[in-house]
This record gives sequence, C-alpha cells and structure tokens, in this order.
Amino acid sequence: MTRIFSGIKPTGHLTLGNYLGAIRQWVDADQHKADALFSVVDLHALTVDHDPARVRRLSRQTATLLLAAGLDPALCTLFVQSHVDEHTRLSYLLECTASDGEMRRMIQYKEKAAREQAAGGSVRLSLLTYPVLMAADILAYGADEVPVGDDQAQHVELTRDLAVRFNQRYGHTFTIPKAVLPTVAARVMDLQSPTAKMGKSHAETAGIVYLLDEPDAARRKIMRAVTDSGSEVVHDRENRPGVSNLLEILAACTGGRPAELAESYSSYGALKRDTADAVLEVLRPLQERHTELCGDPGYVDAVLREGAERARSLARPTVDAAYRAIGLLPAY
Ligand code: TYM
Repeated sequence: MTRIFSGIKPTGHLTLGNYLGAIRQWVDADQHKADALFSVVDLHALTVDHDPARVRRLSRQTATLLLAAGLDPALCTLFVQSHVDEHTRLSYLLECTASDGEMRRMIQYKEKAAREQAAGGSVRLSLLTYPVLMAADILAYGADEVPVGDDQAQHVELTRDLAVRFNQRYGHTFTIPKAVLPTVAARVMDLQSPTAKMGKSHAETAGIVYLLDEPDAARRKIMRAVTDSGSEVVHDRENRPGVSNLLEILAACTGGRPAELAESYSSYGALKRDTADAVLEVLRPLQERHTELCGDPGYVDAVLREGAERARSLARPTVDAAYRAIGLLPAY
C-alpha cells in the first residue's frame, strides 16, 4: 500500500494557504487512498526565535484543527513529531550524508536567515539543518508520496537526493519519495501583497485568512484584497497576481478551474464577493467542529497518544536499519 507522510509546523495560526495547499488533499484524498501519516512537526518550530508556551499551545491547536478539518484517526495516523525519537535519531545520520553547500542553497533557509539577520537576531544552526530533519521525517516512514504546497517542493527534492545518496553508499535502506502538489492553489498568495506567499508566521496579518478568523473578519480581508490595475478578470499569475490569486482560491474552494471561472466575471467586486462566500462555506464547518473538539481535550490527547505509538512502531525498524547500514554497532 502506498505510504504518505506530511507535516505542518506550529509556528502560527493555520491559514487558508495551509488548508488549500496541503490539508484539503490530506482530508479529501490521501487518508482514503493510502496509509497516511500526518505530523505536527513541533521540533521544526524551534528553528527560529520562539516562545515555549506559544509553541506548546499552537501544537495542540494545530492537531485539533487538523481533526476539525476532517482527518479521521480511524483512517490515518496523526501525531506530534517530538513524541517519536526516531526523527532526531535519523536526522543525525542524514547530516552525515548531506553537505553544507547543499543546505545553504535552500531558498527557505536563505529567506528566513536574511529575515532573522535583518531583525538583529542570530540564525540558529537548526535553521540550516532544518531540511535534513524534514528528510528524516519522510524517510523514517518509507513514504512514497509527500503532499505539500509548492514552497516545500525543493525540500522534498533534497530528501530524494539524500535517500539516493545514502542507498548508493550504504545499501538500499530508504524508499525514494516524491512531492505531490495540488493542481490549483499550490501557492496561495498574501491578499495584500500577492507576489508573496500567504504565510502563518508573517507579522502583517491583513492579507492572511486564518482558519479560525471570524466570518466577518475573513470576508473583510477578501473584500479588501489588493487587485491589479485594469478591470478585466483574467487568470494570469505573472501580470495579474492579485486577481489570479482570488481566482485560484475560488477555484480551490468550489472545485472549478481558474481560467474558466475568470470568464464568468466582468468585475473585481463580484469575484471578491463570491470568493468570500466560498471561503466562508469552507471555514464554517471546520470552525464548528473545532469548537466541539476544544470541549473534549481528552479525545485529542488519546488520538495523539495512539498516533505516536503507531508512528514509533513504523519508524523504528527503518531507522535501526539505517544505523546498521551506516556502520554503527548494534546496541546490546
Ligand atoms: P508549513 O508548516 O509551512 O506548511 C504546511 C503545509 O502548508 C503548505 N502551505 C501552503 N500551500 C499553499 N499556499 C500557501 N500559502 C502555503 N503555506 C503553506 C506547505 O507547503 C506545507 O505543505 N517544512 C514544512 C513542514 C514539514 C514537512 C515535513 C512537510 C516538516 N517535515 C515532512 C512534509 C513532510 C513546513 O514548513 O510546512
């Protein structure tokens, strides 16, 4: 059976970008068609300046929101990364497989390191090695597919390179995974600056729709989205990023195609109204279920406990095999 792994880091409140770029596929397709594991990757949240209490709170909230969005523990495995030691065990072996230059070429590293430095902070070493831990997340489970948004494609490519290199040097150990991107909304853009990704850890929030935004707030953000000069509604990401972003959001929420949807609009106002309606239709049931689940913390704990147990039992044999293959003496 196909194995699927994906993760989400608790560095901020989940956004419409996270939902349309990743979570929606996990809920609607992945958990039904494969042995799917999804993780709240909390160790990744420690790679930038962080507040311990906030990370803890966001880890719980993220897990609860994933369940509210429709992940079903009867169909898939949901767990918290730090509950399964195999991730960090394997990460070290992959650090011994990757090169310094390879890490420094990662786009997200370059962007985030520049941001940290501009803010006067220092860059944590773990920010540089972040993609190695991500590779460990994926390879520990022998995942065939990694459903992610477009911004993670380079990291999955690196994961493939590391797996191939390890296998060539030390014998076949890892399955070579591939990234699977959604056909629309693989990169949802910020509503206020539509040439930048809608990101959960961005400080400026006017262009970000959060999954837990009040309906009025979400509608207001969409109605105030920056559109492009001109008034024609066309899907052209290069020249009309603002309108194209709205068309992609609408298409992803309604199951349409951006270019075809464009033909049915002659004004930005109507497009914004329909996009807001479609987004609210998606958010409403998710928020209702989230409220219910918040009243039952014991349920979320039980899901995460069982998820970690299953994840451990799957990862341990692969990681043990990697320890042997690379030349470490088996533990007594
Ligand atoms: P993270 O937490 O930033 O995002 C989680 C998922 O949401 C997708 N995404 C988006 N998709 C479309 N438009 C957007 N604006 C948008 N913003 C985020 C991301 O592509 C991702 O799929 N490094 C990963 C977490 C991770 C992981 C892994 C993923 C750690 N280990 C192993 C897959 C497999 C990250 O930072 O995602």
